[in-house]
Amino acid sequence: MRFAGTTVAGAAAYAVADVAAGARTKVEQPAVAATEGSPDVNTYSHQPVLLEEAVAALALRPDGRYLDGTFGRGGHARLVLSRLGPTARLLLMDRDRQAIDEAERAFAADARVAIRHAPFSTMAEWDEVRAGLDGVLLDLGVSSPQIDDPSRGFSFQADGPLDMRMDRSRGEPVASWLMRATDAEIADVLWRFGDERRSRAIARAIVAQRQQQPLERTAQLAALVATVPGTRDGHKHPATRTFQALRIFINDELGEVTRGLDAAMAALKPGGRLAVISFHSLEDRLVKQFIAAHDGRATGGRRLPVAVARPALLRPIARIMPGEAELAANPRARSAVLRVAERQP
Ligand SMILES: C[S@@+](CC[C@H](N)C(=O)[O-])C[C@H]1O[C@@H](n2cnc3c(N)ncnc32)[C@H](O)[C@@H]1O
Repeated sequence: MRFAGTTVAGAAAYAVADVAAGARTKVEQPAVAATEGSPDVNTYSHQPVLLEEAVAALALRPDGRYLDGTFGRGGHARLVLSRLGPTARLLLMDRDRQAIDEAERAFAADARVAIRHAPFSTMAEWDEVRAGLDGVLLDLGVSSPQIDDPSRGFSFQADGPLDMRMDRSRGEPVASWLMRATDAEIADVLWRFGDERRSRAIARAIVAQRQQQPLERTAQLAALVATVPGTRDGHKHPATRTFQALRIFINDELGEVTRGLDAAMAALKPGGRLAVISFHSLEDRLVKQFIAAHDGRATGGRRLPVAVARPALLRPIARIMPGEAELAANPRARSAVLRVAERQP
């Protein structure tokens, strides 16, 4: 585990560090085997990122009420639950039906657990949340099962329908958006969410291609992007940034983070913990700015000659990144950043 020294604040940060720095207890994940009736739910597994660190960051109380807004395959939820007492409550959300199927399969019999298929931005609509929370965990982005299953359409490495929705019961697949968007809209998405320098050229190629035949498959899009001059970048596939941008856009991932953070803060009780794991700088910036905007430090600046005092609603606790061992064991941890803050009275 690496701490970003300058942003670690307060004694609680050391509590987080102590837990994670000691002999790391490896949480045994039950072997995932295909089950009859829902073969796609359990075929793919997910290795949780910053597991001990994120759970330690919640400073669990045995009788507390916690929300895991991104259940995935339950790596974090399982460890949280193992540390809660019989009167605690663990609320599980995910916008992906397959994740929720897995949550129900694994935890429906546990009276401490409640499960809801919905985006975490809507947590305030859930009665269970209105009672107030002692901690909220958000492990953002996509899970390995989503990426690894070609039928979900997230991967440029395996062919599948060009979908990329985390919740396939609503919204629009990438393929149908690409059929109707203007080249300016496509270029804007690739630039804003993928930082793609060749955004305009790729958008033009997409529009030209769809006039010949619809772009319906991930392999078609990946191959098309690779034909655009200037998209090669070291060892990365030329379509890496295009796929990231389309995924973030089609799932409104940044809007979800913004609304989710507001909802989490409203739901947290004084002393409650917010722990958010981000996987790219666009998300992490939102989390960082959100915590900074509520940390009570006065802001000034060129346009505001007088510093403006703001109420301190959140106390920043830590910024934590995976250590060498985790990075070696799980390449998907590479870009992870965990930010932790505590709700103030
Ligand atoms: C990185 S995985 C979480 C992995 C999980 N912590 C584990 O250990 O198995 C992200 C999960 O969050 C879900 N997700 C992403 N954005 C969401 C949102 N706005 N609301 C609810 N679920 C979301 C995805 O569907 C995916 O299952």
